[in-house]
Amino acid sequence: MLKGRSLIDPMDFTIYELDEIFNLADQIIANPQEFSHLCDGKILATLFYEPSTRTRFSFEAAMLRLGGQVLGFSEPNSSSTAKGESIKDTIRTIACYADIAAMRHPKEGAPKIAALSTDMPVINAGDGGHQHPTQTLTDLLTIRSVKGSLSNLTIGACGDLKFGRTVHSLIKAMSRYENVKFVLISPKELKTPDYIKKEVLKKNNIEFVEVEKMEDVIGSLDILYMTRVQKERFFNEDEYIRLKDSYILNEDKISLAKEDMMILHPLPRVNEISYEVDDDPRAYYFKQAKYGMYARMALIAKLLGVI
Ligand code: NCD
Repeated sequence: MLKGRSLIDPMDFTIYELDEIFNLADQIIANPQEFSHLCDGKILATLFYEPSTRTRFSFEAAMLRLGGQVLGFSEPNSSSTAKGESIKDTIRTIACYADIAAMRHPKEGAPKIAALSTDMPVINAGDGGHQHPTQTLTDLLTIRSVKGSLSNLTIGACGDLKFGRTVHSLIKAMSRYENVKFVLISPKELKTPDYIKKEVLKKNNIEFVEVEKMEDVIGSLDILYMTRVQKERFFNEDEYIRLKDSYILNEDKISLAKEDMMILHPLPRVNEISYEVDDDPRAYYFKQAKYGMYARMALIAKLLGVI
């Protein structure tokens, strides 16, 4: 039963509960009109303390396409946060007006504190360099729709694996499917955090390697998940400038890949995928952004218990 629950960490839902969400998303994709009044009279609050395009817009579009309404802020200085209000008090107030909330915050754990402070479902829309579970719903729905399954995949994650919350959540979620292997491609300064390697990969006996050069491994991948170097999480600008162009995916590199390798990226892209790649049939990142809206429609409907 997903009704009334929050989504803070990708492991909050079992793989069977995820299937429930994905099956509903499939139905919505096939027949969106049928679901266009599912959330009539319901309100989603979007509390974004950090910049966002896809996540906030797709949440809002999702609620509007279900017949519900949205309110919120994308600039925390326009809310009482600027006066020093705590997360706990803000969410308790929002719960007086809305039925469900999506929160993005630069501090790791902030959406969890919010969820613990209210009975209203709270969705983590990204907390610092920690987790981003609805991006993972998006990623899994995209992979499942294209590959037909979430098992038997070699997934390359490339770029900023240290601060990239989308990769942390992807690894966690995918660790529960059969025969999934990871190839972690990053400069040594931006390697996957130890807690992910120890508590997720090693603990579940998942095969993984860490490499620095994309060309050496691209031919073995079923999925290449590119990420942006997370400028806002660096303490030192020179270090960011030195590392920001560590990987640039272009047609030359893709010529070494399998014919059916999927290229994913949570977006926004900076330089890490050349524009020429967009026309390659293996580039799925804009379709992925669209799947994000359907995944969030299904999630909202399930947490509100309207279906
Ligand atoms: C990601 C994020 O916010 O973590 N973006 C998104 O939600 N699609 C990735 C990023 O900002 O690099």
